[in-house]
Amino acid sequence: MTIVIFGGNGDLAHRKLLPALYNLHVDGLLPPRLAIVGVGRKEMTDDAYRDFAKEGIGKFSRRPLDEQAWGAFSKMLFFVNASIDGESGLAPLGAKLDIIEHEAGMKSDRIYYLAVPPTLFAPTVQQLARSRFVAREAAADADAPFARIIVEKPIGRDLDSARAINDAIAEVFDERQIYRIDHYLGKETVQNILVMRFANSIFEPLFNQKYVDHVQITVAEEEGVGTRAGYYEQAGALRDMIQNHLLQLLAMVTLEPPHALDADVIRDEKLEVLQSLRPIAGDDVDANVVRASYGAGFIAGKPVTGYRQERGVDPNSRVETFVALQIFIDNWRWAGVPFFLRTGKRLPKRASEISVQLKEVPPILFNARPDARLDPNVLSIRIQPDEGFSFGISSKLPGPDVRPYPVKMDFHYGSTFGATTPEAYERLLLDVMHGDATLFMRRDAVEAAWRWVMPILDHWSQQNGTLPTYPAGDWGPAEADRLIEAAGRRWRPL
Ligand code: BG6
Repeated sequence: MTIVIFGGNGDLAHRKLLPALYNLHVDGLLPPRLAIVGVGRKEMTDDAYRDFAKEGIGKFSRRPLDEQAWGAFSKMLFFVNASIDGESGLAPLGAKLDIIEHEAGMKSDRIYYLAVPPTLFAPTVQQLARSRFVAREAAADADAPFARIIVEKPIGRDLDSARAINDAIAEVFDERQIYRIDHYLGKETVQNILVMRFANSIFEPLFNQKYVDHVQITVAEEEGVGTRAGYYEQAGALRDMIQNHLLQLLAMVTLEPPHALDADVIRDEKLEVLQSLRPIAGDDVDANVVRASYGAGFIAGKPVTGYRQERGVDPNSRVETFVALQIFIDNWRWAGVPFFLRTGKRLPKRASEISVQLKEVPPILFNARPDARLDPNVLSIRIQPDEGFSFGISSKLPGPDVRPYPVKMDFHYGSTFGATTPEAYERLLLDVMHGDATLFMRRDAVEAAWRWVMPILDHWSQQNGTLPTYPAGDWGPAEADRLIEAAGRRWRPL
């Protein structure tokens, strides 16, 4: 098959896609006859593209570059200078694919990867249709070559624009041919949430309002906005992280047991969760959602600039780089359990964790003293970077007294499984090659998430004045502490 990457000489291809494909090659997981064709507006020879890929792999690959493996991999790489403008802009691509596929005796199974800005999603897809690159799967016979499309985020910046993108793609591709990426779903630790919940009998009976006190989901980044101000100024943390990644994490920890591991069965269950989120609108937004942007501060002892002073950012920008929310899921299982979500850039460290805190034991026996309450049991799922999970329990401190002491049962991927875990993009690309859409976003879920986020964005759009800031290197603004403390809980230290 052939993977055609629009935006093939861009940042995503350089940092993530080409290194991921290289690692799949090293693992022997790629199909025997595969071509990877980068498409871009730049003039570039195949050899120059191979150099570009080699540099990206050298810098960003999970495994170091091995000359022998590279030799075989580089032969799969090609580049075409083509444009989506005009009647015959994609003609050079068609001509090159014909040659590559003919020479290798391939049957034109193709995956089109849209690693381009969202404004180009619809025009690219329309051009693919106009140039007759795509046949609808439903209409094709089983032996006909397949055409699949991978769409990167962001799918829109609100519900209307998401619908417009989805409509434009649906004009050309059937839903079964569309793979919308949320790269968090490709992370090993995120996939492990289902295994942990449904391959063990200890946790699932406890995952409900009877036993769970509350859940915290933190996705903390040390990095600032970097070179992405142009995009980020149109997005902000709610659109960039909460609408997709954090709501997906929430859905994974809270979904009902699916009856099968089929793509649509799991995606139906996730959709149920999104549809059960209690709306946050009007004045409730101020009470349940905190936003702020980072000011100047220190990261790892080095001074860093504030968001509004970053290159490409409006000095009066009201874009948030931090969000914390209190959310409720109004279904039978989770009624009344608060979920606290927070994410931000320029926090003290890169750390993502889901912690499920169980209810306290009754205030009798070991928990009788109000001034010495026992730590509640907490299941902490570490998404990254120290992948694994731990379970906090109380045990007797050795000695003549009966004194409970908090201890941890701890599992680390690194010490148990050794080698580095595969990158999200490795798994996701492989799944598209296999035609497995389980880890991809279905249209209805993308739109359900936007539908829930919209009243918050609408409320914010009616406000003016500057946003609160937090010093870079702090855990967000004081308002985020007040949000959770008002509910009688505290953020767990990471
Ligand atoms: C992307 C966001 O989707 O996820 C970025 O656009 C963010 O702003 C990134 O930095 C975080 O991904 P990861 O895998 O590094 O946690």
